[in-house]
Amino acid sequence: MHIRSIVAPLLKWFAGNARDLPWRRTRDPYAIWISEVMLQQTQVKTVIPYWRRWMEQLPDIASLAAADEDTVIKLWEGLGYYSRARNLQKAARLICEELSGKFPRDLGGVLALPGVGRYTAGAICSIAYNQPEPLVDGNVARVLTRLLGIERPSKQKQVVEQLWLVTADLVKHAVGLQRTSQRNAAAFNQAMMELGALICTPRNPLCHDCPLKGHCIARKQNKVNRIPVLAKRAPVSKRRFIGFIIAWHGNVFVQRRPSGEVNSGFWEFPNWLVDDTQVQPADLASTKLALGQVEPESLCIINHSITCYRNRLEMFVILRTRKPLLAKLKGKWVSVANLGELPLTTAHRKAANQFAC
Ligand code: ADE
Repeated sequence: MHIRSIVAPLLKWFAGNARDLPWRRTRDPYAIWISEVMLQQTQVKTVIPYWRRWMEQLPDIASLAAADEDTVIKLWEGLGYYSRARNLQKAARLICEELSGKFPRDLGGVLALPGVGRYTAGAICSIAYNQPEPLVDGNVARVLTRLLGIERPSKQKQVVEQLWLVTADLVKHAVGLQRTSQRNAAAFNQAMMELGALICTPRNPLCHDCPLKGHCIARKQNKVNRIPVLAKRAPVSKRRFIGFIIAWHGNVFVQRRPSGEVNSGFWEFPNWLVDDTQVQPADLASTKLALGQVEPESLCIINHSITCYRNRLEMFVILRTRKPLLAKLKGKWVSVANLGELPLTTAHRKAANQFAC
């Protein structure tokens, strides 16, 4: 079996099974770029409303370049890994200033944009321009390692390079089969990702429905559950945070995360990392907030994972009748009614919702 023989059945399957996703109705490289960056760490169903809102408010490169930071981070709130949004804006400004506002048309030009790696560049060039550029993401790697029966760890450098070479050959072959009005580079790359998302799933893949089942070495050798071989996960560390919603007369106190830190630019309630399990919220409140003797009332616990951390955020409420002087803290008072307009980190948005209801 030659691996090229998967191309025609895969394209046929995609033609009949592709999901109707909003960014598949356009060839605008800007719109496709935004979708691909959003999809990097986030599921399709989560991305759809974010992408729609973004495209309504920032419909083109010029509007993104001109937007203020708060607008951009508000549109990204909840997607996480905010450096992605920051890089999008940096790239948009660079395109306006140095490329006369025109999105680059060649792989090298796309790759040179801040935040764009070879996956995103391959996705934009193939999907927007139908150029025969390959791409490998997690879905493609799973499909290919199973098809080829690769039992070495799928993130090993040599394996990754092998997968890029194989897809590079396949996408060229797909374009070679193209008839007028077909866009086989766009279709082939998306078909590989779609097969990984819908059929060749990490667990319980739907091999019976797979258009490539006759070609799959993992299936023939009964190794579908063992491939891809994943590297051991980095150990996770648990962290405990205590936070306070300090409220008076419908107002709450929030602080902006400093630049250079995770989620910089976002707002949150005052909170501290307290790895010591003995720390009591009342003691913390009296030392950090200098409000005298207070009895914080428990609101909720938010469990939140990010990279290698399992964070537990214990939120407490301190209600006052008059505006407290928080001399030790830098931040601002906002009315609870206006909290929705402020970009909050995901964990603190959950706490805010608990407080408001
Ligand atoms: N995942 C990321 N980008 C995708 C795309 N264009 N089609 C299918 N799955 C994807």
